Amino acid sequence: MSGSVAIVGGCGHVGLPLGLAFADSGLDVVLYDINEASVDRVRAGKMPFVEKGADEVLARVLADGRLTLSTDPSAVSQVDHVVVVVGTPVDEHLNPDPGAVVAAIEDLLDHLRDGQLLVLRSTIYPGVTALVERLLARHGKAVEVSFCPERIAEGKAMEELRSLPQIVSGRTPRAIERASELFGHLTDTIVPIEVEEAELAKLFTNTWRYIKFAAANQLYMMATEMGADFDAIRAAMTQDYPRAADMPGPGLAAGPCLLKDTMQLAAFNKNSFLIGHASMLINEGLPQFLVDQVEKEHDLSTMTVGLLGMAFKAESDDIRSSLSYKLKRLLKIKAERVLCTDPYVTVDDGLDPLDVVLEQADLLVIGAPHDIYRDLEVDVPVLDVWGIVPTRG
Ligand SMILES: NC(=O)c1ccc[n+]([C@@H]2O[C@H](COP(=O)([O-])OP(=O)(O)OC[C@H]3O[C@@H](n4cnc5c(N)ncnc54)[C@H](O)[C@@H]3O)[C@@H](O)[C@H]2O)c1
Repeated sequence: MSGSVAIVGGCGHVGLPLGLAFADSGLDVVLYDINEASVDRVRAGKMPFVEKGADEVLARVLADGRLTLSTDPSAVSQVDHVVVVVGTPVDEHLNPDPGAVVAAIEDLLDHLRDGQLLVLRSTIYPGVTALVERLLARHGKAVEVSFCPERIAEGKAMEELRSLPQIVSGRTPRAIERASELFGHLTDTIVPIEVEEAELAKLFTNTWRYIKFAAANQLYMMATEMGADFDAIRAAMTQDYPRAADMPGPGLAAGPCLLKDTMQLAAFNKNSFLIGHASMLINEGLPQFLVDQVEKEHDLSTMTVGLLGMAFKAESDDIRSSLSYKLKRLLKIKAERVLCTDPYVTVDDGLDPLDVVLEQADLLVIGAPHDIYRDLEVDVPVLDVWGIVPTRG
């Protein structure tokens, strides 16, 4: 195949939108994934998760034959470019596993062909690109390697893959040229940089965001402890004052990337990352702070609490590392009952419909700021750290 791409981890949150975007720009794409259920689902034209604008593209590229799917690793031998975007989680002790990407490539070794370009796109522990290069050299593979991090926000992939600049790195001008050409199908803005700098650029991008959320959350907690209205303070600070305009609002800063990548960086920096670890304590401590606030005014032991929104962010069905679940656990220790709801989440059978929760709850807590909660008209108190409900408690 010419102009062809295999995406390893092709049914994941990053791999699938990327594959769709490549196929929609005229490349022949094969999504290779070890998750058979996801492969069957996507092959049948169904997205395995919510991603705005993806359903139409999936239908289109399946229909015109640009997109195929496989659970057979030999699928990667047919293409010019192999993009690896498998998950790279930290373990339960927050240790990164630099071996996840390497293990996926080891499984492909027999199928990689000389002359191919191997693009690493997972967010990786610094040094993993070099590790992969050594692995390929050891096995006598003349495959060029490029690290090109993904920086999209889940839910906005179909738009952001085409609107954001693409960081591209490689050891040789040829590797950079080939990766630039590949991503040139999606965006006009290619940012070439050294390999190890690109690895850090990705981790710094997520860490920077996590730190900013932590700063806002700490100031929110400080103001709230004092009985001051943080929204009013932030509005006053930012009004016609560009130097404060980038201050985020408070919220449950969670999800599969921000904490994980901050902890990868901490591990890389010999576990000494004061501002990263402080950010973790602040962001992960916010649920307890919210429960403490509620307890100041309510005796939860006699109350039914309704938790609205279990996904880690608005308009998403992704519950990976969602702090709503930490909130739920903390509330369950204190409250008589906790009822949870989410319009998007399908993988949790402990959820109730919104109307049931609204009917039975004595107090509501907003976990994820889904748009449908913006117009809530309720006469029970609402604890809304996000500030989306007009009568925020
Ligand atoms: N989710 C995001 O918004 C986001 C954004 C930027 C970067 N990233 C990074 O992208 C990477 C992937 O994240 P994700 O959220 O898409 O993860 P995911 O878990 O949604 O997807 C990973 C996919 O890889 C498949 N897989 C795992 N091992 C495999 C193997 N050996 N061979 C083939 N397929 C395999 C899984 O079945 C799954 O479908 C991570 O490094 C993550 O940090 C994620």
